[in-house]
Amino acid sequence: MTYTPSKERYDKMNYRRCGKSGIRLPEISLGLWHNFGSVDVFENFRKILWRAFDAGITHFDLANNYGPFPGSAEENFGIILKKDFCNLRDELIISTKAGWEMWPGPYGNLGSRKYLLASLDQSLKRMNLDYVDIFYSHRPDPETPLEETMGALAQAVHQGKALYVGISSYPADLTKRAAEILKEMNVNCLIHQPKYSMLNRWVEDGLMDVLEETGMGCIPFSPLEQGILTDKYLKGIPAGSRASKPHGFLRVEDVTSEKVSKSKKLNEIAAKRNQSLAQMAIAWLLKDQRVTSVLVGVSSEEQLNDNLKTLDNLKFNDEELKKIELILTGK
Ligand SMILES: NC(=O)c1ccc[n+]([C@@H]2O[C@H](COP(=O)([O-])OP(=O)(O)OC[C@H]3O[C@@H](n4cnc5c(N)ncnc54)[C@H](OP(=O)(O)O)[C@@H]3O)[C@@H](O)[C@H]2O)c1
Repeated sequence: MTYTPSKERYDKMNYRRCGKSGIRLPEISLGLWHNFGSVDVFENFRKILWRAFDAGITHFDLANNYGPFPGSAEENFGIILKKDFCNLRDELIISTKAGWEMWPGPYGNLGSRKYLLASLDQSLKRMNLDYVDIFYSHRPDPETPLEETMGALAQAVHQGKALYVGISSYPADLTKRAAEILKEMNVNCLIHQPKYSMLNRWVEDGLMDVLEETGMGCIPFSPLEQGILTDKYLKGIPAGSRASKPHGFLRVEDVTSEKVSKSKKLNEIAAKRNQSLAQMAIAWLLKDQRVTSVLVGVSSEEQLNDNLKTLDNLKFNDEELKKIELILTGK
């Protein structure tokens, strides 16, 4: 099978400016954390990437450890890039990260210069790329000086191995400091990647304000709470779902009755809006203009199609917002 990209690929997607940078990202981006590893079905994820690009999704998010096995998502992505996207590199924003455990010993984890720069070289090799568009520090390291971690990101840019840098899961105060340190090295922090969904709103407590102040974009990850904010778990744990898989990061005990009960109530509001719960959960994040793009994961083309339909209705009226707030907070 060969892939010919749709000529209409830029007609339907809206692109939002990433903070105060020159880059615009699609309102929906695709993450390769699950479903693109060596345990997954090649032709399935290959078609997901085709469908994504045809729909105007230009941004694909990876990390060194995505799989399983760790590294295999980057390898698979590299194979598909070569087979299907070889003339399209300049239309793509590809990100990778380092920060979680990747190889044994003291140099394969967290935030040292040694780890970050070695990991970036490995990622480039696995994806068969000369550079990534965004290189992230995947998480804060409590023991490495922030100057060293940010220095490694800046060095990646100065070496031409990354065009931009980002940080993930950094709290508000460290985010501000990280942006200052990078600026001293003539590098702007392009973007922050925090966990953010209707069921996890920690970013509203200061981080979003810092992102606005510092001119950083925001790309929420796990916007569907790994599937809990869809109709998937409303009647139990279905076979083949992330929670049912031994290698899935969503554990059965994470699908609590409290979260499912909220999802059921939210699902009723979504139905009145003629949306799926997944669509409403994505739209709810995009109502904040400081959110540049919502980073979804999918295990099938159908799920991606469902999520893309979000873009047909991003508006909420006050009554809907009040009802949602009551479900989420009881207030
Ligand atoms: N920076 C970080 O530390 C970090 C951490 C986690 C993730 N991320 C990034 O964020 C991306 C997204 O995270 P995520 O995969 O947890 O996102 P998510 O969108 O919250 O969850 C994705 C899962 O939800 C289910 N799903 C998606 N659309 C659906 C639909 N329309 N109907 C029914 N079920 C649907 C699928 O589950 P099934 O597989 O069960 O079908 C899918 O695998 C990752 O790929 C990665 O790039 C970053």
